[in-house]
Order: sequence, then structure tokens, then C-alpha cells
Amino acid sequence: MKLLAGLVRLDVFLYFISLITAVQAFFGGGTDNYRRKVSLELNPGRSGSSNVSVLHVRAVGNNDTLHFLWGSQGVPTLLLVHTDSPETRVQIDWERMLSNNISGSLTVEPASAVRYSTAFLFSKIWEYRDNSTDQSQAAADSYFPPYSLEEFTWEDLNRTLNHSALTAQLCGRNQSQHRGRVCFQISAFESWGRDPAWPRLLHSANSSQLRFVIEGVMPRSNCSRFALELLSIDSRDHEAREETHRSIDDEYTPSIFQVSQLVSVHVNSSAPVLSYAQWKPVAYRTASPVFEDSTPCRHSPASPPLPPPRLGLALAFFGGALDQGYRASAVNISFGIPGEPFYNATGYLSWSCLLGLGSPPEDSFSPLVLGIMVVGLGTPALLLLVGGAYVCVRRLGRQQPGYAPIN
Ligand SMILES: *[C@@H]1O[C@H](CO)[C@@H](O)[C@H](O)[C@H]1NC(C)=O
Ligand SMILES: *[C@@H]1O[C@H](CO)[C@@H](O)[C@H](O)[C@H]1NC(C)=O
Ligand SMILES: *[C@@H]1O[C@H](CO)[C@@H](O)[C@H](O)[C@H]1NC(C)=O
Ligand SMILES: *[C@@H]1O[C@H](CO)[C@@H](O)[C@H](O)[C@H]1NC(C)=O
Ligand SMILES: *[C@@H]1O[C@H](CO)[C@@H](O)[C@H](O)[C@H]1NC(C)=O
Ligand SMILES: *[C@@H]1O[C@H](CO)[C@@H](O)[C@H](O)[C@H]1NC(C)=O
Ligand SMILES: *[C@@H]1O[C@H](CO)[C@@H](O)[C@H](O)[C@H]1NC(C)=O
Ligand SMILES: *[C@@H]1O[C@H](CO)[C@@H](O)[C@H](O)[C@H]1NC(C)=O
Repeated sequence: MKLLAGLVRLDVFLYFISLITAVQAFFGGGTDNYRRKVSLELNPGRSGSSNVSVLHVRAVGNNDTLHFLWGSQGVPTLLLVHTDSPETRVQIDWERMLSNNISGSLTVEPASAVRYSTAFLFSKIWEYRDNSTDQSQAAADSYFPPYSLEEFTWEDLNRTLNHSALTAQLCGRNQSQHRGRVCFQISAFESWGRDPAWPRLLHSANSSQLRFVIEGVMPRSNCSRFALELLSIDSRDHEAREETHRSIDDEYTPSIFQVSQLVSVHVNSSAPVLSYAQWKPVAYRTASPVFEDSTPCRHSPASPPLPPPRLGLALAFFGGALDQGYRASAVNISFGIPGEPFYNATGYLSWSCLLGLGSPPEDSFSPLVLGIMVVGLGTPALLLLVGGAYVCVRRLGRQQPGYAPIN
């Protein structure tokens, strides 16, 4: 009986391991096989230079195409369009794109192939004086007038476009800041993987990553902190939901046990997630950070639905329908909490987020943690098995001579 129990335990144990391995293979670090052919194109359909840059990331899958469009026109915007054909094209009416009325100047053709579209806008940077000393107290004491990214002058993306690394960087500044600048570095991906730089976000072929940097900006007080306002625009039938997931593993992002996301889902339905913005609540105070340069972030609850701003690539793509069929949701992500050094300490902040279609990538246990779990759970199981077998063998051995006299 003991032996049997031991065998059952071994069985359960093996089953448990194979379950972890299977779950890991499905959701885990870089084991998804889905690949896309990704190419970058600047200002599709336009030759010669212009003071407007639209970066088109075309990610072709087996039977679909993802179009990521990133532009500074109006306000920095990432437009995501999912089509169910590998042959859809982006068409820009440049005359209208460069006019005052950009409404409807960007189309994806054929329009009948478009399955889903959404846009993320980076609208404002808030600066606030954080003189609170209490850790638990809400940080913001006083807000300065925000920097509106709409009023920034943006550099040409052409200079920073890297076709082989699938990256580009958009930098801009406003009139009042001579030294300081704000940059967005965009990365596209062909398959699953993890960014080499902290916070080492996990990405898939259905996502792209933005690293947001504020550097050299003259703070308006000695205890200034910054916050970024992120807007997501989606159909009225979809609602934005803000979620925070906890994990027990901080191997990839030291001391951060959370991942936050703003997801778009169907109203009143449990259908899967349509699109997401995902980030870890951490920012870095230097360009090549060590552990001490990390600073926690917070975010506000998602706003109730707002009328979408008539701006940028969102207006260019959604056109007149933007007012009727769409809604915006906003979150503020603030960098640093009471007790942490202020912006003036380094004059630099970077924060990364992943924007994509479908369900957000989920971190599973890393091989290290898995190993610890297997050893931790496996050793007792093995001891039980060996112990059980030993006891059985001894019993059998003791009973054997007992039978002999009966014969
Ligand atoms: C590709 O998608 C189209 C439209 O959804 C569908 O009709 C077609 O059967 C698909 N082809 C393959 C090979 O999956
Ligand atoms: C902008 O262009 C669209 C499409 O051509 C047109 O319907 C709309 O009336 C224009 N708006 C303005 C303010 O000119
Ligand atoms: C923080 O600053 C505000 C004014 O900006 C002031 O009213 C408040 O007393 C200050 N708090 C601390 C703890 O210094
Ligand atoms: C990416 O999109 C494709 C096509 O819609 C889908 O088959 C695949 O599972 C997606 N991958 C992830 C990781 O969401
Ligand atoms: C900031 O601190 C420096 C010295 O620490 C001081 O000279 C300066 O006046 C302060 N600036 C503001 C805006 O408080
Ligand atoms: C930053 O501001 C704090 C608070 O006023 C001040 O103590 C510190 O000296 C400033 N640091 C720099 C580098 O200016
Ligand atoms: C969702 O449910 C609410 C209340 O149950 C209802 O008022 C609303 O019309 C529903 N929305 C959709 C799109 O079905
Ligand atoms: C972001 O912060 C500013 C300043 O406090 C506030 O006016 C705005 O409503 C906030 N937005 C959200 C979505 O919380």
C-alpha cells in the first residue's frame, strides 16, 4: 500500500512538472512560435522630405497584417490597424495630410479587410511639486501648467530609423525648453522575446514597444516630478479597463512584482482582450541604469469615457466617425513617489510600455524559479517514495520467514 501511495505521489509530481512545462511553453518566456515579417517604411507614398514623419510598421502574419503607424503630426500617436489579409496597403493623401484638415487622409485598403483598429495618444506631460513627506499620502501637491505635446516641434524620424534593428526614435522639444527634450523610441518585433534593457518587458510579434524619455528639462521647482497622460481611443462598443497583476517573480525587473495594463474589451461580454497598453510600474533615472536608479511609478484610475481629441493620426484614420463612434480613456502615469529623489537629481527619466493587439503577454515563472520549485517540491516527494519503498521492502523481508513454519 505504501509503495502504491508512493507511486501515486510520484505520478502526481510528474504530472505537476509536465503541467508547469506545458503552461510555460504556452505563455512563457519566448516560446511562442508565431512570427511576422516586419518591415519599416517612412512616409508611405511620398518622395522627398517633409516636416511631417509617419512611420509605417508592416507586420505580415500567415493570413493577416498588422499595421502600426507612428507619427508626430498633431500629437505623438500610435495607430494600430489589424486586417485579415496579408496584402493590405496603407494609403496617405499627402496633400490633405499636410493641410489644416487631415481628417480621413490616411486609409488602409481594401477597407473591407480591416478587422480592428485602435489608437494610443501621448497628449500631455504634467509637472508637479511633490513636497509631501508621507509615503501613503497622494503625492501631487501642486501642478504646473502641463506641457502639451501638441505644441512640440518634432525632429525628422529619418535620421534615427534603423531598418535592421526595427527601431526609430522621435524627439521633440517645446519653445520654452532649449536644452531639454522628450523622446519616444519605438521598437517593432518579429517574434516573442524580451527587451534586453530594463524593465525587460516581454513582447510578441503582435506588439510594439515605446520607450519614453524626458531628459535635460529644466524643472520648475526643486521638488518636481513628472507624469505622462496616455489616451487610448477605441470604438464606443469597447471599454477600457485598467488592471494590475501581481507576480512572485522579479527576476527580470528587480524589486518590481507588478505589471499594469490598460486593456480594451467588448462592453458586457467576456470576449477576449482586443488591444492593450502594458507597463511595469518603474522608471529609470539614468540612461544606463543600475538598480539604485529605478524609481516606482503610479497610475491614476482610468478616466470615464471622454470625447476623443480631434488630433493627429487618429483623426487622419477615423475621420468624421471619430466624434460619433469612438471614445477615449485616459490614465496618468506618474514617475517617482514621496521619499524618492526628485527629477533635478539626474535630469533624466525613462519609462517603457508595450502596445499591441490581442491579449497582453504574461510573464510565467522563469527557469530559475521553476528550478527552485521543482527542487523544493521534488525532494520531499522523492524522500517519501524512497522511504515508502524502504518500509515496504523491510516489511516484506520480515514477513517472509513467518510463512515458512506454516509450510
Ligand atoms: C485567410 O483568411 C481569409 C479571410 O478571413 C479566409 O477566407 C481564408 O480561408 C484564410 N486562408 C487561410 C489559408 O487560412
Ligand atoms: C475636412 O475634410 C473632410 C473630408 O474631405 C470633409 O468632410 C470636412 O468637411 C473637412 N472639414 C473642414 C473643417 O474643412
Ligand atoms: C507643500 O506646498 C504647499 C504649497 O505648494 C503648501 O501649502 C504645503 O504646506 C507644503 N507642504 C509641506 C509638507 O511642506
Ligand atoms: C498574434 O496574432 C496571430 C494572428 O491573429 C495569432 O494567431 C497569435 O496567436 C497572436 N500571438 C499572440 C502572442 O497573441
Ligand atoms: C533650488 O535649490 C537651489 C539650491 O539648492 C536654490 O538656489 C534655488 O533657488 C532653488 N530653486 C527653486 C525654484 O526653489
Ligand atoms: C534638488 O532639489 C532638492 C530639494 O529642494 C535640493 O535639496 C537639491 O539640492 C537639488 N538637487 C540639485 C542637483 O539641484
Ligand atoms: C451593457 O449593459 C448595460 C446594462 O446591463 C446596458 O444598459 C447596455 O446597453 C449594454 N451595452 C451593450 C453594448 O450591449
Ligand atoms: C491627470 O492629472 C491631471 C492633473 O492632476 C488631471 O487634471 C487629469 O484629470 C488627470 N487625468 C486622469 C485621467 O486622471
